[in-house]
Amino acid sequence: MSRLDSFIRRVTAQRACLDYAAQLIDGQDGVVLEVGLGNGRTFDHLREIMPDREIFVFDRQVASHPDSTPDEDHLFLGDLPDTLARAAEDLPQPAILVHSDIGTGNAEWDARMAEMMADVLPRVLKPGAVVVSDQKISLADAEDISLPAGVQKGRYFFQTYRGR
Ligand SMILES: C[S@@+](CC[C@H](N)C(=O)[O-])C[C@H]1O[C@@H](n2cnc3c(N)ncnc32)[C@H](O)[C@@H]1O
Repeated sequence: MSRLDSFIRRVTAQRACLDYAAQLIDGQDGVVLEVGLGNGRTFDHLREIMPDREIFVFDRQVASHPDSTPDEDHLFLGDLPDTLARAAEDLPQPAILVHSDIGTGNAEWDARMAEMMADVLPRVLKPGAVVVSDQKISLADAEDISLPAGVQKGRYFFQTYRGR
């Protein structure tokens, strides 16, 4: 498979996952968290498919396209353990959807980040929240959800948080 084909397959799967996640939370209250702004592509997609949702975005810096950059009030800048802890205090509502896209390709680092996410996410999630991630996050009190049609197992991860 060419690198172009592989890229197209990856972003097609990502879009299918975000569209499916938006359907799953339809009609339920709560904010959306985009963890890993990067270029801003997935943030831009989330706000297009959920124009009425408040979306809060996390990254250590802003390196996004100017058209895909959130306003300051919706941006948590800094290292994730700190910003997610701050969000737990500052968000207007708990999150009904988290999209986490923070993989680096370094397996050891990514595993550490996934562990950190499993620890801190419960502080910002509402019971029933959907967590969609590029890395497996072993959240306590959560159940895996089947992937949308056409997305290969292991490419993305879906779970719903039952809460405590
Ligand atoms: C793969 S990019 C996100 C791509 C983005 N979803 C898009 O569509 O353009 C991952 C982002 O996660 C951020 N990130 C990774 N680990 C982080 C950490 N510990 N704290 C804050 N940001 C982090 C990186 O700075 C990077 O911008």
